[in-house]
Amino acid sequence: MSLDSTTKTEFPIPAGVFAETVTEVKHYTDRLFKFRITRPSSFRFRSGEFVMIGLPNAEKPVFRAYSIASPSWDEEIEFYSIKVPGGPLTEHLQKIREGDTVLMRKKPTGTLVNDALLPGKRLWMFSTGTGIAPFASLIRDPETYEKFDEVILTYTCREKGELDYGKELVAALKSDPLVGEMAQKLRHYCTLTREGYPFKGRITDLMASGKVFDDLGLPPISPETDRGMICGSMAMLQDTKAALEGFGLEEGANNKPATFVVERAFVD
Ligand code: A2P
Repeated sequence: MSLDSTTKTEFPIPAGVFAETVTEVKHYTDRLFKFRITRPSSFRFRSGEFVMIGLPNAEKPVFRAYSIASPSWDEEIEFYSIKVPGGPLTEHLQKIREGDTVLMRKKPTGTLVNDALLPGKRLWMFSTGTGIAPFASLIRDPETYEKFDEVILTYTCREKGELDYGKELVAALKSDPLVGEMAQKLRHYCTLTREGYPFKGRITDLMASGKVFDDLGLPPISPETDRGMICGSMAMLQDTKAALEGFGLEEGANNKPATFVVERAFVD
């Protein structure tokens, strides 16, 4: 148990939730951090889904939806979080340390799952900010590479330091004994909007100009070959969804697989 724990309390654990132990915390910038918790043996989820999490720091704890960033086969559960100044959950969550307790509701859900997409040649994952979390899960899942010949993870952030979590993941993937070889199919296209970088601008603008396709040496998106998954802020979702619809893709869901799916990066 850590000293000065912010989550160690006398409050009882509410019914219907798992109380799990933090195994690792890593801060990337003053706005972003990841943490890992133990995984209850009965907890099952599909890579790309989200779950509600909270802290045992009140009689009625605040819960927020978080995409699970680890793949469904992992022994632990990983999350990637923003730190919102004054945010009812993240204000406290950002102070957690190894050994602290995190609450997790028992039922995962979500639409950014391979099952919600029709088969295709190429999967595009469009992410901004903490919207990379569900893709952190999916790029570590063999099923993603079994279903698609090519996987392109686009990741747009404001500043360079915000790209580190994604870069670290992709670098580690190459030597992963389970998916390393399959992950040769993955391409990681990073762009920045508020700092100099080889690739600059919002992904929506880069699709509209065709630059992203030129940069990657790929044809423009087509409903015949391409599938999309989108995760970011509400505005980013709307604009990226409109762009994909402009290419002729249609939004799908778990009960109606189609050519793209959308999930909001919830905590803001
Ligand atoms: P920008 O710097 O031009 O706002 P945020 O942290 O605000 O969620 O933003 C993460 C990244 O998403 C930023 O690079 C931001 O670009 C970009 N972004 C914000 N809104 C949109 C949008 N409507 N469409 C595409 N990208 C967006």
